[in-house]
Amino acid sequence: MSTFRALLVEKTDDGYRRSIVQRNLDELPDGDVLIEVRYSSLNYKDALSATGNPGVTRNFPHTPGIDAAGVVVESRTDAFKPGDDVVVIGFDLGMNTPGGFGERIRVPAGWVVPLPRGLSLEESMVLGTAGFTAALCVHKLEAAGTTPDSGPVLVTGATGGVGSVAVMLLAKLGYEVAAVTGKESQHDFLRRIGAARILSREEARAGADRPLGKETWGGAVDTVGGEILFNGVKQLRYGCSLAACGLVDSPAIPATVLPFILRNVNLLGVDSVQLPLAQKAEIWQKLAGPWHLPELAALRVDLTLDTVSDAIDRILAGQMVGRGVLVHGA
Ligand SMILES: NC(=O)c1ccc[n+]([C@@H]2O[C@H](COP(=O)([O-])OP(=O)(O)OC[C@H]3O[C@@H](n4cnc5c(N)ncnc54)[C@H](OP(=O)(O)O)[C@@H]3O)[C@@H](O)[C@H]2O)c1
Repeated sequence: MSTFRALLVEKTDDGYRRSIVQRNLDELPDGDVLIEVRYSSLNYKDALSATGNPGVTRNFPHTPGIDAAGVVVESRTDAFKPGDDVVVIGFDLGMNTPGGFGERIRVPAGWVVPLPRGLSLEESMVLGTAGFTAALCVHKLEAAGTTPDSGPVLVTGATGGVGSVAVMLLAKLGYEVAAVTGKESQHDFLRRIGAARILSREEARAGADRPLGKETWGGAVDTVGGEILFNGVKQLRYGCSLAACGLVDSPAIPATVLPFILRNVNLLGVDSVQLPLAQKAEIWQKLAGPWHLPELAALRVDLTLDTVSDAIDRILAGQMVGRGVLVHGA
């Protein structure tokens, strides 16, 4: 098949227009591996790409989609052969390289991870970059010494993609999870996926004017940044850690050094995009093995190329719950 369907974002005089188009394989960039994309997923970053955020995408027309799972069609390297099931997340996929919102991608072999045994293509995209990042946060917290005995773990933006997988994974691993959400209607959902406690965003911001908060959290996964992030740091127990991966509220944090020099706490940076492939493969192996989440279906919201555009608007408005999975050919 030399043509395929894709969501195309074009720059116009009024802004950015999205449409579904037929593309030719020869419009894809040169690369080692041509992949038939069976599933992609919707991340906050895809919405930024689709609306022309220059920190994500500069070259238009463009097909977003930072995640893709599918089957190798052609390979120039011995590492992959036609028919292999593979996953691609991060690097430049969906940023300035045509991404998973098209039925085909062509990428360097260094971006491609063989689908680990124990995980289906579909499950890999219910996780996608968001779920992978949640796992990377937990991995970094544990590497810094966090255990279920450290105390309750705070998860912010809890109904979102990263947040919801973090809640589920931490609960599975025996942590007591305190979920921060702005969605009162989703408290039952959060309890179902493992939250033991629920805080409103206002509660998470309370006391932001004080230099230190009450030592409460044994760890934290923050997806929102801003005041909520640093309040989390100020409320960590002595020696505990917060993993920071997101900025949906704000990239700026109102910080002092006090929690670091008085309570020995750690602020851990988390990036899944440029994480070296070997470390990516290690996290995928965990998600396919000891961290496998059979209950992932509870997070899944199915999307098609025809419905993904509406979902882009919902995620920008902070209204998505769980993980949007784009099913190609549906
Ligand atoms: N570092 C990395 O490698 C990496 C990888 C993936 C994602 N990220 C980042 O992580 C963040 C979350 O991504 P995602 O895909 O999970 O997005 P998402 O699905 O939109 O989830 C974000 C959640 O944050 C909450 N929220 C929205 N606006 C807020 C505000 N103004 N203040 C406080 N909370 C707010 C909402 O949850 P509630 O309604 O439940 O509060 C929302 O569902 C994004 O900033 C994304 O760019 C980073």
